[in-house]
Amino acid sequence: MSTASIWSKNISFVNGEVALSGIPASQLAAEFGTPTFFLDEDAFRTRAAAWRDGLKAEFGDKAGQVFYASKAFTCTAVAHWISEIGIGIDVATGGELAAALAGGVDPSQIEVHGNNKSLAEIDRAVSIGVHTIVMDSLYEIDRVAAAARKHSKRQAVLIRLTPGIEAHTHESISTAHEDVKFGFSIASGAAWAAVEKIATFPELELRGVHCHIGSQIFGTEAFEMAADRLLGFMAKFRDAYGAELPELDLGGGYGIAYLPHEITVEPADVLPTIGKAVREACAKYSLALPTVSIEPGRNIVGPTMFTLYEVGTVKDVVIEDGTVRKYISVDGGMSDNARTALYDAEYFATIAQRTSSAPTVQSRLVGKHCETGDIIIRDIQLPSDVIPGDLIATPATGAYGRSMASNYNHVPRPPVVAVIDGKARVIVRRETEADLLALDVAKM
Ligand code: LLP
Repeated sequence: MSTASIWSKNISFVNGEVALSGIPASQLAAEFGTPTFFLDEDAFRTRAAAWRDGLKAEFGDKAGQVFYASKAFTCTAVAHWISEIGIGIDVATGGELAAALAGGVDPSQIEVHGNNKSLAEIDRAVSIGVHTIVMDSLYEIDRVAAAARKHSKRQAVLIRLTPGIEAHTHESISTAHEDVKFGFSIASGAAWAAVEKIATFPELELRGVHCHIGSQIFGTEAFEMAADRLLGFMAKFRDAYGAELPELDLGGGYGIAYLPHEITVEPADVLPTIGKAVREACAKYSLALPTVSIEPGRNIVGPTMFTLYEVGTVKDVVIEDGTVRKYISVDGGMSDNARTALYDAEYFATIAQRTSSAPTVQSRLVGKHCETGDIIIRDIQLPSDVIPGDLIATPATGAYGRSMASNYNHVPRPPVVAVIDGKARVIVRRETEADLLALDVAKM
């Protein structure tokens, strides 16, 4: 059921220290340095398996696949875990595909997304035999058909539909209203044109429809509406072509807690309601239940990592209202957490290697980059005695953290360290200055 904590499963507080699988923060920092993303591997495996089992429990033999949305975070090790857990993976670029293959994911478990897949990406996906390619434009239908012809294959495809739903989330991560670059609008007729075009290519097998309504969504209403609209579209297909499409993919988007009062969505909180909506829509349109797939990304990996920073400087700044704001600068920033700058995302933080009984003061957690917007947490109450050398942990940074990290200011990107059963190991190593310079062509 709901997770009432922003800390992952194997976090505990040992003698005032944040500890992961029993290893205290001070020891983690000493061994791996800061900033570092620490990943609770058991929590990751548990969350991924919960979605797998939840989908199976809800849809039985009509459970499709859980495709882990690897854009949230991927690397060879994580892709390998995905294959061990027995779920699929959603890749949106050649790089994500490369990581999936490096991790040993079977191509039959890979679903390929993207609104502008390159010819090379399409060619590779078709040649290795991925599970499905999700069609996002009319051009792409020609391109995938050409690749299928070239490789003498029949390629399974889905159509990404835009059902015209405003999911209640930040505008930049809301994806299923009409005015977006993704998919084909149902309302405008674009989606139907895509169906008709695909039908002209014998080398394409239209398996069904897909939508992704947005990210960091709580509640089920938007998913229920999407299910109804997609199944209505599948009924239109049945009426025109005399056959039912066998697959429905409802995308990802399940929200997680970033702040202590928030609650992470768990599979059991949403899948029964979504399942009911799918069954009701099937009854309404006289359709057999299709297989139902989903693509959670954030919800699987987000809660499983925290970032550990070290405080470098602390400064009391008198602000406009005459009060003092404590600026706490850590050794990372917008290069490892772009989400605050991009989406006004909110995070929680705590001193990680000690407790403090000092009164809290209004504080701002900032990074080391050369701009004012380099903020990790805009407003937080932290103890007044935070000093250089303190460790700061920010929980729930697993999704779109390391995966959106940059080298701004020529900062090497942090490593990812997986911790399980009291043992820690690097799964993505820290970048070095040599890595940064490795792409430079020698002096001209
Ligand atoms: N499927 C498709 C087709 C998607 O585009 C996405 C995310 C997902 C699944 C996974 O959504 P999730 O379960 O992770 O919410 N960088 C933003 C989020 C962008 C999401 C893009 N698409 C952020 O940091 O909030």
